Amino acid sequence: MRCAIGHKGATLSAITSLAMIETLRFLMCKPEYFGVSYVINPWMKGNINQTTLERATHQWNALVSAVEGLAQVELIEPQPGLPDMVFTANAGFILDDTAVISRFRFAERQGEEAHFERWFRSRRFSVLRMPDDIPFEGAGDALLDRGTLRIWAAWGHRSARTSHDILAKMLGVEVVSLRLVDERFYHLDTCFCPLDGGYLLYYPPAFDAQSNVIIERLVPHELRVAIEEDDALQFACNAVNIGDTIIMNKISEELLKRLQAAGFAVIEREMTEFLKAGGAAKCLTLRVNEPRQLSWMASRTA
Ligand code: ARG
Repeated sequence: MRCAIGHKGATLSAITSLAMIETLRFLMCKPEYFGVSYVINPWMKGNINQTTLERATHQWNALVSAVEGLAQVELIEPQPGLPDMVFTANAGFILDDTAVISRFRFAERQGEEAHFERWFRSRRFSVLRMPDDIPFEGAGDALLDRGTLRIWAAWGHRSARTSHDILAKMLGVEVVSLRLVDERFYHLDTCFCPLDGGYLLYYPPAFDAQSNVIIERLVPHELRVAIEEDDALQFACNAVNIGDTIIMNKISEELLKRLQAAGFAVIEREMTEFLKAGGAAKCLTLRVNEPRQLSWMASRTA
């Protein structure tokens, strides 16, 4: 089992600051109005009205229990007519007490923006927004590295490339732009998951050649867990990482062994209903406490 203290050269003051780190909190939204009622990604094709509320609720409850074993879950009220609101990862991007709220590319999801904004304000986040004409889909397309202070952000399907420079200026943090090239992996969190200790779980063919070069330059070989297509199609990268634990859809025995060898415990939860909408475990959650300082250590539960 890896240990928080000691990796990446923690200083004594950083270790002392660990005491200040709160229990992690995740925002989730009950699938009360969830369903596939339009098609805005390839997973939704052929799946209109193919989910059941009963199965979705059962799978979502199982995910909540797994997360609650390690962190706290906060809820936002689901809204009729917004079936994708359950995917709270797309609410916005959080750093410290700032939330950069999403501007959805498709009209079908734009109604969610005001609800998420209200929630962020109710929790005393200062809310920032992209210019009107710049799509940006929050923590679906922008993810904090867990080894260093860096934001990985994607463009190509949903968020605009220009949103990355704006995000970097707004937050004063380096943003590394990656280009997505396979429409099945239309959000960054469908194919890329920074893990505790600087590890990276990802599916290289979802990115163009230049992005792969950047990833390989910035993440040491021994920390990269590149996965095969079968696991990628099970949304293995759409994983919730809490300390040494990864909560994810069912994965191959081979990937399970690799993650365990890297020191992670894996909790598998069936996500079939949400896959029909193009989502799985991670995009059903939004990590709410993302302190800039100690970003790589903050994933430890206190
Ligand atoms: N149907 C939703 C959409 O296409 C799924 C969103 C999944 N969210 C994510 N962060 N990957 O927008």
